[in-house]
Amino acid sequence: MKVVALHNLKGGVGKSSAAVNLAREANRDGLPVLLWDLDAQGASTWILGGENGMSRKVGKLLSGKSPLGEQVQHTPWERFDLLPADMRLRELDRILEDKAEGDKHLKRLIAPFSEEYALMILDCPPGLSTLAEQLIRAADRILVPTIPSPLSVQAFSRMLAHLELKKRQRERVLPFFNLVDRRRRLHCEWIDSPPEALGRTLENWIPYASDIERMSLENRPLADLAPRSRATHAYRRLWQELKTELGE
Ligand SMILES: Nc1ncnc2c1ncn2[C@@H]1O[C@H](COP(=O)(O)OP(=O)(O)OP(=O)(O)O)[C@@H](O)[C@H]1O
Ligand SMILES: [Mg+2]
Repeated sequence: MKVVALHNLKGGVGKSSAAVNLAREANRDGLPVLLWDLDAQGASTWILGGENGMSRKVGKLLSGKSPLGEQVQHTPWERFDLLPADMRLRELDRILEDKAEGDKHLKRLIAPFSEEYALMILDCPPGLSTLAEQLIRAADRILVPTIPSPLSVQAFSRMLAHLELKKRQRERVLPFFNLVDRRRRLHCEWIDSPPEALGRTLENWIPYASDIERMSLENRPLADLAPRSRATHAYRRLWQELKTELGE
């Protein structure tokens, strides 16, 4: 099973939108997919029509005392499952910090799912958390949705500095541009030639598209909501690029 995390220090940059649509594209491509909504806000849980958990049990599950698989919900799409957000996720950092395994606790929580799924997508909350620090151990790729702006680049550099990654780990962190508006000069320039501070970026990018905002009104991924939309095709290309990346 491959594990892909959507992460950014910044909020509101398109992590949840990408998590849902990349998961659905991979699922349309025939892969059994599990999306784990690790953000207590529950945006991807909401879009997929899942039920936010509120159970006391989740503390036990996150600390590894009982199997996390008990919380898995089906979505309306076959072989596309959801591990929904839960209010107890607010305590996730404390739980991850507590564990004796050091920075491998998240990886251990994920491991049992590899029997059933070919791909796991992690929708992460914004911020520099213990979760963020453990992602590099747990995920094959960390995708960083990035709005083309100098402040986004600065946030990205800060995130890298905080994580203190080794060279090979750094290579698995891949920004991609989101909310691209081709009427803006900077956006056009950066798509063609991304700033060096971002390092290697994915080639595909997601345009600004109002269809994306509609996902949380109609509770469906773009492929089902607006199959012909530019944004749907953009996420599809992004998935194809990611698939190649994961196959390497
Ligand atoms: N390419 C896009 N075009 C138009 N709207 C977008 C695009 N990407 C994201 N949005 C909208 O921007 C808002 C934030 O997106 P999203 O929830 O995916 O970001 P996030 O990084 O997960 O946010 P948070 O940090 O709060 O978890 C949402 O209303 C979403 O519909
Ligand atoms: Mg989100």
